Amino acid sequence: MQIKTYNTTPYDDQKPGTSGLRKKVRVFQQPGYLENFVQAIFNSLEDFQGKTLVLGGDGRYFNREAIQIIIKIAAANGFGELIIGQGGLLSTPAASNIIRKYQAFGGIVLSASHNPGGPDEDFGIKYNVSNGGPAPEKVTDALYQNTKTISAYHSAEIDDINLDQIGEIDIDGLKIRIIDSVADYAELMADIFDFKLIKDSIAAGLITLRFDAMHAITGPYAKHILEDVLGAAPGSVFNAVPQEDFGGGHPDPNMVHAHELTEIMFSDHAPTFGAASDGDGDRNMIMGANIFVTPSDSLAIMAANARLIPAYAKGISGVARSMPTSQAVDRVAKALNLNCYETPTGWKFFGNLLDAGKITLCGEESFGSGSNHVREKDGLWAVLFWLNLIARKRQPVADIVSEHWQKYGRDIYCRHDYEAVDSATANGIVDHLRSQLASLPGKTWGDYSVQYADEFSYTDPVDNSVSANQGIRIGFSNGSRIVFRLSGTGTVGATLRIYIEKYQKDTDNLHQDSAIALQQLVDIAEQLCEVKKRTGRTEPDVIT
Ligand code: G1P
Ligand code: ZN
Repeated sequence: MQIKTYNTTPYDDQKPGTSGLRKKVRVFQQPGYLENFVQAIFNSLEDFQGKTLVLGGDGRYFNREAIQIIIKIAAANGFGELIIGQGGLLSTPAASNIIRKYQAFGGIVLSASHNPGGPDEDFGIKYNVSNGGPAPEKVTDALYQNTKTISAYHSAEIDDINLDQIGEIDIDGLKIRIIDSVADYAELMADIFDFKLIKDSIAAGLITLRFDAMHAITGPYAKHILEDVLGAAPGSVFNAVPQEDFGGGHPDPNMVHAHELTEIMFSDHAPTFGAASDGDGDRNMIMGANIFVTPSDSLAIMAANARLIPAYAKGISGVARSMPTSQAVDRVAKALNLNCYETPTGWKFFGNLLDAGKITLCGEESFGSGSNHVREKDGLWAVLFWLNLIARKRQPVADIVSEHWQKYGRDIYCRHDYEAVDSATANGIVDHLRSQLASLPGKTWGDYSVQYADEFSYTDPVDNSVSANQGIRIGFSNGSRIVFRLSGTGTVGATLRIYIEKYQKDTDNLHQDSAIALQQLVDIAEQLCEVKKRTGRTEPDVIT
C-alpha cells in the first residue's frame, strides 16, 4: 500500500464540543479540514497499530465522502482492520455496540445528531474509545491541542471502497469488513428485553404503535425490530428511509420537530404508544395516547420499574442524570436506596460510572436515556423499554405516568432555548448571572425562596477529574430549580438554555398544565438572566 504524506496547516476552530466536532458541511469541505481533524485524532492516540477501528455515520450529506477519506487516513496510520456499517451507516448506539462486541480499539462516528443535514447544514465527527463511549475530556483535549499544531496528514493511495457490498476485503494486510448495520444491534436488544411478551401484546392489540424515524438513521433499525421482528403493523414506522437532508426537517424528537407524530398522538385515533428518534438514533421521545412523557420522567419511571425488564430483573446498581435533568429520578433512587449521581451535560460523563458498575441507568433531559448495554444514549432501547413495560404492566402510558406521580410527586419541567444569540451577548448573560450568585441565597419571590445558587463543578468519582463551569444552578427551598447554561453543540452563535423545574407533591394538583404551573419560575428566570431584555427577543426559539 502506497502511503502519501500531505503538508497541511492548522485550522483554529477544531475544539470538540459536548459531543464531538460539529460544523457546517462547507466548513468540513475546506481543503484538509476533515483530514486534519482525523489525523489529529490518530496523533493523540497510542498503540493502535494493527488494531480495529469502527466507522459509520448517520447518513447525512457528506457521510459517504467523509468515510472514504477516513478509510484512507486510517489505513495510512496503521490500523489493521476497519469495520464499517453497510452504506457507511451506523446509528450512534449501534456503533457503540459494535466497538464493544468486536473489541475494537475505538470508533469514528459521523453525525451532527439532531441538527439538520444537507449541503448548507451541519456535519459532525466524534471519536469513541474502546468502551464504546465518547472520548473523555483528556482525550478530546489532547486531540484539540494536536489540531493547533498539525503540519501533515497521511493517506493511503487506495481506491474508494464499495460501502454497499457486505463482506470482507483485504488490501495489503488491511482488513475491511462491511457489516449489516442492524443485525448486531437487533440481537443485543433481543437479549435485553422480553421480545416474546412484546410481540404477543402487539398481536393481541394491547399495544398499537407509531414510530417516527424522522427520515433518519433509526428507520432501518426500527422497521426491522418493531415491524419484522415484533410484528407491528406495516407502516407503524414512518419516515423510515434515511435521507441525506432528513427530508428537509430537523431530526430532533420533540413535539416541535416531530409534529407529525405529535398530531397523531393527540388525535382521536391515537395508538396506545408513540415514539420518535433523532438523526443518529441516540435520542428518544416517548408518548402515549394524548400524553407526552418528559425525558426526565421517563428516566425516573424506568428506574422505578427496571426490575420488570429481563436484563435488569436482578436490580440496578445506581442511576445518574445530567445536572439540568429534573430531580424526578433522584426521588426514585432515594426510595429504592440506589446510588444517584448528578453529572455535567453530555453522555461522556456517564462512561466512567457505567464502567465502574456504579450505575446501570442514566439519562438527560435532552431526550436521551440509556443503560450499561452500550456507552451511548440509545433511542430505540428506550422505546423497547417502554414497550416491555407497557406489556408487563398491561397499562396505558398515561396510567403508568400518573401512578408514578402519585407515588413520588411530579417534577413539572420545561426547557427554553434561545438560539443563535450573539456570542458576546450570551457571555454577558452568563457573567451577569455569575455576578449575582453570592447575593441570591435567601432572596424570595412569592413561594420561591433561593436556597443555593452556584456554578456547577463536577469531580468524577472514578478518576477524580474535575469539570468546572458546567452551568448555573439556582435551587429553591421548595425543591424547584432554575438552571442556565450555554449549549456546546450549536454551530451558529451561542444557544442559551434555561431549564425550569417545579416540584409538585400535592396529589390533587398533579395534572396541571405545565406552562401555567411554571410561569412564575419562567418570570424569575428572566429577571435573573435578562435574556429577553438583552437580546430584544420576546420568546424562546424552542420550548421542550
Ligand atoms: C445537547 C444536550 C445534551 C446532549 C448533547 C448531545 O448538548 O443538551 O444533553 O448530551 O446535546 O446530544 P448542548 O447543546 O446542550 O451542549
Ligand atoms: Zn443524537
